[in-house]
Amino acid sequence: MEPARNFLSVYDFTESEIYELILRSVVLKEERLKSNPCLEGKKIGLIFEKSSTRTRVSFEVGIMEMGGHPIFMSSKDLQLGRGEPIKDTARVLGGYIDGAVIRTFEQERIETFAQHFGKPVINGLTDLYHPAQILTDIFTVYETKGKSKYESKYIIRDIVGNLKVVYFGDANNMANSWVSLQAALGFELVLAMPEGFDIDEKVKENAVKRGGRFTVSRDKISAAKNADVITTDVFISMGQNEEKEKIDKLKPFIIDGDVVKNAAEDVMLLHCLPVHRNEEVTEEVFERFSEIVFREAENRLHVQKAIMEQIFT
Ligand code: CP
Repeated sequence: MEPARNFLSVYDFTESEIYELILRSVVLKEERLKSNPCLEGKKIGLIFEKSSTRTRVSFEVGIMEMGGHPIFMSSKDLQLGRGEPIKDTARVLGGYIDGAVIRTFEQERIETFAQHFGKPVINGLTDLYHPAQILTDIFTVYETKGKSKYESKYIIRDIVGNLKVVYFGDANNMANSWVSLQAALGFELVLAMPEGFDIDEKVKENAVKRGGRFTVSRDKISAAKNADVITTDVFISMGQNEEKEKIDKLKPFIIDGDVVKNAAEDVMLLHCLPVHRNEEVTEEVFERFSEIVFREAENRLHVQKAIMEQIFT
């Protein structure tokens, strides 16, 4: 039997496959109401060890719209939450369901699950990466900046390859995901973050090995110069303690009007949500770009359907 195909990080798709996913997402968004029963008869587990609004609901709706049956399992209700080893949970669930979306802590935890489950697994966020979100983000950029929705993948490559993306704030799973996407697609990436908040060495090594390149800036205004995309995430990620000291150090990297003024005229803001207004982005800037940000949230559904077509069928 062939090993299951997983989507645990962006690196599980080639550059060309990512562009194909973007094109397929355009069609799935346009044809949302057209019948597409490609998951008919499939039972897909959603195993969540952390809270979620967007990821849980967009995957559940996507599975239902493709004729499959989602089964949501919070670790609070599973024996997993009482210490059952994840490899045992994986072996058991492998006998019941046809695929899984998992939100968990360490990347090693989802890798262990996938190894013992024997069926396809999609990463719904780990401490290291949020790959379904980052593919949605680049789809949203293409949708916003592309001249026509139905370009060839070579034109998408031109649009994406010429972008300057600037990420402001904490070196968390979203920053890591931008680093991995840059390594896969090759645009200009600047990380504006304070001293002592640098990218995980393993994430960096992995990206550099694949030809990835990014720069780090300690000055948010020069980082923002001519940016096509500005983006950020909450300063305190799920599972971390509210540390005032950490917030104080990150505060100067807030996306504000000065950042926007220095960026390209048609700059767009991305935020994976939930947002902490006036912490990582000012209320005024967030509201100015809110149409894009909430479209980005809706796009989770369309892009994840394209991902599930590749992974679960
Ligand atoms: N962006 C995101 O993953 O949102 P949720 O935590 O609500 O799933």
